[in-house]
Order: sequence, then structure tokens, then C-alpha cells
Amino acid sequence: MNKPADLGNQALQASVIPVEAYISPEYARAEAEKLWRKVWLQAGRVEDLPEVGCYITYDIGHDSILIVRVAEGDAANGANGCIKAYRNVCTHRGRRLVDTPAGQRNARGKRRNFVCGFHAWTFELDGTAGSIAHKDAWGPALCDSVTRLGEVQCDTWAGFVWINQDPEAEPLRDYLEPAAAMLDPFRLQDMRARWRKWTVFDCNWKVALEAFNETYHVPGTHPEFTQFGDFTGWGRPQGKHSHIGYDAPEGLDENKAKLRLGIGDPRVSTAEMQKYTWEGVNTNTTQTLVDVAQTLPDVLPEDTPPAEVSRYWLETARRIDEERGVVWPKVDSETVGASGTSWQIFPNQQIGHAVNNMLCYHARPFGSDPDKCYFEVAVYELFPEGQVPETEWVYADPDQFPHVLRQDFSNMAAVQQGMKTGGYAGNIPNPVAEGAVLCLHRNLARYMGTGMPRPLETLTEESAS
Ligand code: FES
Ligand SMILES: [Fe+2]
Repeated sequence: MNKPADLGNQALQASVIPVEAYISPEYARAEAEKLWRKVWLQAGRVEDLPEVGCYITYDIGHDSILIVRVAEGDAANGANGCIKAYRNVCTHRGRRLVDTPAGQRNARGKRRNFVCGFHAWTFELDGTAGSIAHKDAWGPALCDSVTRLGEVQCDTWAGFVWINQDPEAEPLRDYLEPAAAMLDPFRLQDMRARWRKWTVFDCNWKVALEAFNETYHVPGTHPEFTQFGDFTGWGRPQGKHSHIGYDAPEGLDENKAKLRLGIGDPRVSTAEMQKYTWEGVNTNTTQTLVDVAQTLPDVLPEDTPPAEVSRYWLETARRIDEERGVVWPKVDSETVGASGTSWQIFPNQQIGHAVNNMLCYHARPFGSDPDKCYFEVAVYELFPEGQVPETEWVYADPDQFPHVLRQDFSNMAAVQQGMKTGGYAGNIPNPVAEGAVLCLHRNLARYMGTGMPRPLETLTEESAS
């Protein structure tokens, strides 16, 4: 089963999701073969591989992948043979070829070749074994196909490097659609990381991702945001992926549904919401947008209509950024509205896109422990040429993240523990506001062969009998 049939945009219905996908050790072990070795996974950024010989590693479950730039050339949208991926294991006796330094998320560096730490077999950037001590002893059977590093499919899109361990996998672009076409106008490949942090949670990787693929939790988890408006939106299937967003408020075009105004006096509430977002999440906006928002109450008259506040705010910020060499791509408001606020790229990557910044969440299993996961937050934006900051992946304890994220994090272990309670019937997400949760499990079930959400009526009938 390489390519489960696509469920397309089949409508979502009220359903119950069995908890095995979150808490079962057998399910977590089966994910390695049925899921992680079958899907395209976002494994890094092209800008982390600027020169020939630059490499990064990416670990998924018990598998480790070594990603290497082998040739010069533009690889932001299509690896073009410039970037290759190998199994990070020496073909001699199975030593991991490149170690992850203690306390780091992954290995990163630049080498002319890779020398195994055990018996010093040497591998060239193209994966072939160069020097092998006392090679004659094996005889002619020790040929290149035996000794070269195992190659893994590798491609790029939007400045991200993607890998797939399945040699029969469909091409990356086909896999990503319709997300890729919808997000291309935002030119995510031009953005660079402003900060990126990783941590470990005591919950399943799906619990971590699902805390960010709906806004239904905002009043309950982030009550202070309700002063700025109603943040309940929708989550919709998009092939094997899904996206979430808000419908545009009355009187505003779709463009304004994305960079939101606050309620009440929009000049004041937008200024406050931008400041609160910048300090509380440190993402979803930029310093320029925050700064211009702070001027709105002073420069615009008191009864300025919301559409005019929005137009002034965005046009002024765009102009100020242009003057410092940061050019936002022009995306028509229909596309902005249709694309929503963030995409869940199946199975474990979320891209919160905008014309001038991007917020990405990524979750991975911790070995095959269903109760633990790696969780990563990366925040990108556009920078003037020559002023891109040098950023590394930094480990942070969950309590070292911005405070709005800490509110989200406070639910993780509690959800994982709660779902193990005897007699708990399963999760029943809101089919509109939490549609992305249902989408994830519908598609997971097709890969895993188990765990398909079932109609809520079946639960209603069970509890009645
Ligand atoms: S295991 Fe790598 S050289 Fe022996
Ligand atoms: Fe949240």
C-alpha cells in the first residue's frame, strides 16, 4: 500500500475518533513502517545547505536521514539533483554515520566526505564508498551497490527540503497539492528563520499538532484574546492535507480575514492586539506591522471604518518595508482568503503563511513511545538582503516559550493522560471548527489500516443501549 486512495474534499461529518492513534504502543510502533516510511516529510531548509558539502540530519522515529548538498545551483523549489538524502547508517556494520551532538536537534555542518567513526570507511558526497581498509579480503562481491549509502528520495518546495523513504512514492509536488499551488504565490522560499526552537512534550505527536490546527480552543486556552474578537474559524479537507481559516467579517474583503483587525474601535484594538501578539507569541506578525498598528489611533480619525483602517495599516507597512528592501509578494485578496490562515501538510507539518511571515509547527514521535514527542516551532519572515540573521535550532524547556504558547503547552500532557481514562469513548471534534483534526485522522487511518473516525451516531446509539 504505497498510495492510499485520496479522500479528496469529501465532506466532514460529526465523528468519534478512537484513542488508539494517540495512546496505543502497538499503533505507535506500526507508524514507523506504515506512515513515516511512506510519506514525504519536511526535513529542513534549503538555506541550511548553502554550499557543496553542507549537510543536515533528520531523525524520524528510529530512522535517521543524512541530507547533503552535492552540487551548486538553485534548489529552493526543486532539488534539481543539487541536494541528496541518504540513510544515515554506515554500510559496513551499521554504525550511525553522522552523530547528532548531545543536546542538539540534529547534526549540521560541512564536510568533504563522511568518515565512519568505527572502522573509518569513507563515503563521498555522492554516497559512494571511497576508502575501505583491506578491501581485497571481501573479494569482488563487495561492489559499489553493496557499499554505497542507501539513497532516499529528496526534493524541495517553498525553500523546504522534503524526504521520502519509499522508493515508489509519488513525486513531492503531486503529494503536496493542492497546498503547493495555493501557497506558491506567498513565496515562502524567500523567507528566513527569525527564531526556531524545539522541545519535548509528554504527549503523542498528534496531540501536540492538534493543539494548533484549530482556533476553537482560543476562548478556553487564551481567554484574553476574546477582547479582540471571535476567533472561531473553520478547518477543511484539501486532499490529504487540510487548512484552517476565518470567514471575512462583513464589510471587509477576504484579504482582511487574514491580517485581522480587532473589534470595537479597530484603530485601538488592532494596535493592542498586534502588541499582545508580538509579545505573547512572537510570531504571526512582523515588527513593521506592529509598529504601524501602534500609530493607528493617532493618525486616523476616530470613526474610520474598519476597511479603511485595514487598508491604511497594510499599505503603510508594505511601503515602509519596501523602503528597507523587504518586498511583500502581491497576492490577490481572493487567493489570500481562499488559502486561509494555515495548512496542515499531512502528516506532521503545519505552515501558517502570510505575505510577509510564516509560522511553522512540526511534531515527530520520540522513538516509538506513544506518550512523548518532539515539537518544533520555527518563525520566518522576509529580511533585507545581507541582513538575514544566523539562527540555529535551540532547545528550550516548554516553560521558556512565549507565554501564549505556554498556554497551549499546558494542555499537552493533560490531554494525553485524560484520554487514557478507562471508559473514555474517544474524541468528538467540532466538524466545522475542528475539521482539521478529523482530516488528519481520516487520512492517517488510510495509511495505518485502523483508527478511522466513525459517525457520532454510533456513539449515541451505544450510550443509549
Ligand atoms: S561500521 Fe562504519 S566502518 Fe565499520
Ligand atoms: Fe493556542
